[in-house]
Amino acid sequence: MSKQERLNYTTYLKLTDLLQCQELCSEKAGAAIHDEHLFIITHQAYELWFKQMLYEIDSVREVFNTKQMDESKTLLVLSRLNRVVLILKLLVDQFQILETMTPLDFIEFRTHLATASGFQSLQFRLIENKLGVKEDTRIKYNQQHYMKVFNDPKSIRQLEDSLESPSLLALVERWLERTPGLGERTFNFWSVFQQAVSRWLEDTIMTPAEEEVNPLQKETMMQEYQKQKDSFQSIFDESVYNGHRERGERRLSHKAFQGALFISLYRDEPRFNQPYKLITLLMDIDSLMTKWRYNHVMMVQRMIGSKVGTGGSSGYQYLRSTISDRYKVFLDLFNLSTYLVPRAYIPRLSSRLKRRLSVLSTDQLMDDIHGDENEAANGERDSESADERTLVDGVVSFSIGD
Ligand code: HEM
Repeated sequence: MSKQERLNYTTYLKLTDLLQCQELCSEKAGAAIHDEHLFIITHQAYELWFKQMLYEIDSVREVFNTKQMDESKTLLVLSRLNRVVLILKLLVDQFQILETMTPLDFIEFRTHLATASGFQSLQFRLIENKLGVKEDTRIKYNQQHYMKVFNDPKSIRQLEDSLESPSLLALVERWLERTPGLGERTFNFWSVFQQAVSRWLEDTIMTPAEEEVNPLQKETMMQEYQKQKDSFQSIFDESVYNGHRERGERRLSHKAFQGALFISLYRDEPRFNQPYKLITLLMDIDSLMTKWRYNHVMMVQRMIGSKVGTGGSSGYQYLRSTISDRYKVFLDLFNLSTYLVPRAYIPRLSSRLKRRLSVLSTDQLMDDIHGDENEAANGERDSESADERTLVDGVVSFSIGD
């Protein structure tokens, strides 16, 4: 490679191309409007970050999309999702810079935009689809499906692919269904949790209600008790749960929901630390997407009031309707809080399960146990039961008994 051909900052980043992509329509029309430059740069910066988000989301989907997710990759998944969260935080704030443009400045060049609109952002739709925004609950734009605005075969193929391949939600659901300990024979989580809830409701509402002397107060407390019981019944009774799911009020399968609740209640167990963090990051992504929509619509109202959008929608009205739970992908995870009970009521794990939820995965744990058993058989270790042994190497520590 000659000296001239060697990569440098400009050639590596293709800056000559990149920095030529800001063509002001107003300039072409004869009189450059200063703020159009900011308008273009802002949109391009958003699209670049959208590209990075898709890159991260795709890589996370790939890790999940295996028969048995490799647990050693959990940290990688966490760090990439955390990156998505940080990018989104930046994007939520980035509207502030565009807001330095006044509506009067915007109107100076808005006509040049013709029918161009953010509604035609392919990458934004890909992000929504890959996360798992539900197709049938989307708000119709101009009575049209959003796909209709895309004409080129490549974009259409990408959109179809984003709908056909499993979304992050679908993959997370599969992963939650396999939550370790859910099928544990020494600890039937679902059954002991139901007993714990009954006890909690008895102690905190029913018993005080029975002792209440004021009839009006008593009545209110009894109603509260019934309300809470019905609320829990909607998850304990699988057919009621599935009814909600069919109506689109819940998206996770009953098994996956149990897994998520199990992880949330036992988040302090070492093996659930990372899964719990993952659940938190997914909720962060949902919250930040909603905040993005909110900041965008606030800016739109400030810039164009209730004028129609350049893409032909009602503008502010349409955008405002997208800030709703129907666009939340991980709504079930937010709803988990409805079913949490105070720590004192959380059932104690069996000692066997507690051991299983120590740091290592089951496979690794079994290897260790067999390894130790072999060592013990060879007389290299004392004769304590391998199952109850405390490993002192700092990786796993199980207690003897519970
Ligand atoms: C002055 C600034 C902006 C105005 C007035 C504005 C206006 C609008 C309007 C009215 C719509 C509804 C569709 C339509 O009828 O055109 C829309 C949609 C959209 N805009 Fe903006 N926008 C602005 C800045 C941005 C920026 C910086 C982005 C960053 C990428 C963006 C991305 C989008 C996206 C993705 C949609 C589709 C949202 C959805 O359908 O849920 N917009 N915008």
